Amino acid sequence: THQWRGLINEYRDRLPVTDATPVVTLLEGGTPLVPAQLLSERTGCEVYLKVEGANPTGSFKDRGMTMAMSRAAEEGAQAVICASTGNTSASAAAYAVRAGMVCAVLVPQGKIALGKMGQALVHGAKILQVDGNFDDCLTLARDLSDKYPVALVNSVNPVRIEGQKTAAFEIVDMLGDAPDIHVLPVGNAGNITAYWKGYQEYAKDGLSSHNPRMWGFQASGSAPIVDGAPVLKPQTIATAIRIGNPASWDYALAARDESGGLIDKVTDRQILAAYRLLAAREGVFVEPASAASVAGLLHAADQGLVDPGQKIVCTVTGNGLKDPDWAVAGAPQPVTIPIDATAAAERLGLL
Ligand code: F0G
Repeated sequence: THQWRGLINEYRDRLPVTDATPVVTLLEGGTPLVPAQLLSERTGCEVYLKVEGANPTGSFKDRGMTMAMSRAAEEGAQAVICASTGNTSASAAAYAVRAGMVCAVLVPQGKIALGKMGQALVHGAKILQVDGNFDDCLTLARDLSDKYPVALVNSVNPVRIEGQKTAAFEIVDMLGDAPDIHVLPVGNAGNITAYWKGYQEYAKDGLSSHNPRMWGFQASGSAPIVDGAPVLKPQTIATAIRIGNPASWDYALAARDESGGLIDKVTDRQILAAYRLLAAREGVFVEPASAASVAGLLHAADQGLVDPGQKIVCTVTGNGLKDPDWAVAGAPQPVTIPIDATAAAERLGLL
């Protein structure tokens, strides 16, 4: 029998590690590439979902974190710090436990999903809620890592991008070639940067015949790249991508332009519609921000931008259990019944 060994051991020759690097891992990566039935039907394409919520802490952040934490351990760090809209902090907290390090996280006050807060707490992170947004948290985290002995594990740490690029490797390994289009949600823009790097490396080494066009989607109330200027007060129900001044802005533009791609925005209403569609029609429960990729694909299809017959991969970045409020809100309340089969059958319409 063979168990997936975690992405550092699976892709060691393509990552900046040596035999001396202590591997801090929860065996992340190796996530499912699920054929999307309804989305394929709607678009006339072959659509797949890269289900990153299947990672150990429930989001793609584990890919970058295994690299960042391993390298921090190699450099002798005792403590790590990050700014986060929730998922990075959950991941950093878990990997810090594995590494025996102290983890400090800065989150925007009142704007992170409860599940993510619970993860950071239960893994023993030191959490500070900042009276500001994510962009303020990141400025503060950078400042602290400059002045004090604490390693920054945000995606401005280039080693994070190296870990995250492995998702592109897995997709090409699975499909036998790169897809025609790759669709992602965009927040701080680290992930679109990472996928683009991964696809390019594989193509350069002849492991794929072409690069996909990179399509990124921001939430319309937090769409600085699309609008062309930082957003001082970013808004969206997709709190994971509530970011007004993305750190990897220029890299995201490069990914778009070099791939002949697209960065556009989708409304919260479109995001929630895609969120419900993924759960109800594909059987895949994601958090709202993750649905921005699928909302974007449907938006582009409506505009006639999706030619039939293409291979398309949508990354869905985080697990729906992290932020279940949106699943419960607006859904009919379950009815209560006595312990009685007839009553149950009646309610279920089986009579
Ligand atoms: N989807 C989810 C679920 C996320 O948590 C994030 C980012 C993104 C998409 C966007 O990815 O920033 O690489 O463009 N979350 C960060 C965090 C900011 O702190 O957890 P990106």
